[in-house]
Amino acid sequence: MAFEIVATGHYVPANRVTNDDLARTIDTSDEWIRSHTGIGSRHVAAENEASSDLAFQAALNALEQLSPGNPMEAAQTIDLVVVGTSSPDYYGFPSCACIVQDKLKLEKIGAFDVVAACSGFVYSLDAAAGMLRHGRKRALVIGTDVLTKITDWSDRGTCVLFGDAAGAAILDKTDAPEEGPGRRGIIRSILGSEGAGAQELMCERGGTRNPYKAGETLDKGIVLSMNGQAVYNFAVRAFTDTIQDLLDLEGLSVDDVKKIIPHQANMRIIRAAARRLKIPEDKFFMNIEKYANTSNATIPVALDEYARSGDLQRGDLIMTVGFGGGLTYAGNLMVW
Ligand code: COA
Repeated sequence: MAFEIVATGHYVPANRVTNDDLARTIDTSDEWIRSHTGIGSRHVAAENEASSDLAFQAALNALEQLSPGNPMEAAQTIDLVVVGTSSPDYYGFPSCACIVQDKLKLEKIGAFDVVAACSGFVYSLDAAAGMLRHGRKRALVIGTDVLTKITDWSDRGTCVLFGDAAGAAILDKTDAPEEGPGRRGIIRSILGSEGAGAQELMCERGGTRNPYKAGETLDKGIVLSMNGQAVYNFAVRAFTDTIQDLLDLEGLSVDDVKKIIPHQANMRIIRAAARRLKIPEDKFFMNIEKYANTSNATIPVALDEYARSGDLQRGDLIMTVGFGGGLTYAGNLMVW
């Protein structure tokens, strides 16, 4: 029994905002953003677009691969929806996954969100695979975020980093072997957390710790805050360790891996990890230049772009690696 991705899809909102566009409203420049992050532009959701809207479009894009011209028909084969998101449509409930389930006209299936910040899609894949083991056949796994709606647009230390997107994968339980020769699907996942670093990247207001009080005026609204240097140091360490641990646990070398699909937070984080691990940079699939950090969406969007590039063949070994608020880190090793 194997747990394999059989289709992928993604969606980005139409509105593309370049670094030069940002430099017209805050004290920054295209040169600074590119040299410090590798980001060239990001896509920003429309006022009436929320995370579930992006997620639904990404899901349709993936389902279209299974049933060209009739994605809603393919949707009826799904019996589990798992959504990784840090910016659900509503605080607490309903989950984004329930809204997606309704948009897809699904009934009598489980649907829930996973909150693991930018590691959320990797966590969600592992959670879904575990749940497929117990009776279910096909899961829709989505990473979606509209962080631009919880970003302080006057803080140049954070607002230049983020964008909006969603990516989706259809995960099937198949008869392929999970171990030994010809093995396929997710063969190993690492999930990690370091809650002691929670305050380094957080949305401090709006929860039950610091609730919004009636009549209160919030200068910046409910926005995320970050200690950039601390997150950077954590990210390089966690990212490097996760790759090395996945390889060691399976007795593999990096040469066995065709591509690493990393969380796209900062090109410098990837470069620093590549140097430490002595991995060539082209081992990593990167699209941060176009989309910036879309949190839960970076890995499924990159996976979809890579899968559609023609370079990814059946039998190839690939790895996803995420890290983010929580602090969390995670990786999946899978045979395509
Ligand atoms: N444009 C221009 N200048 C900026 C700027 C911007 N957008 N943001 C910060 N600066 C300035 C700072 O004010 C500072 O100026 P000063 O030296 O006059 O005080 C200078 O650039 C250096 O700031 P610093 O914060 O030390 O930069 P950095 O090299 O650490 O880069 C980050 C900042 C945010 C890019 C980097 O810390 C980072 O990538 N951290 C990880 C963030 C991340 O990936 N988060 C998500 C994880 S999922």
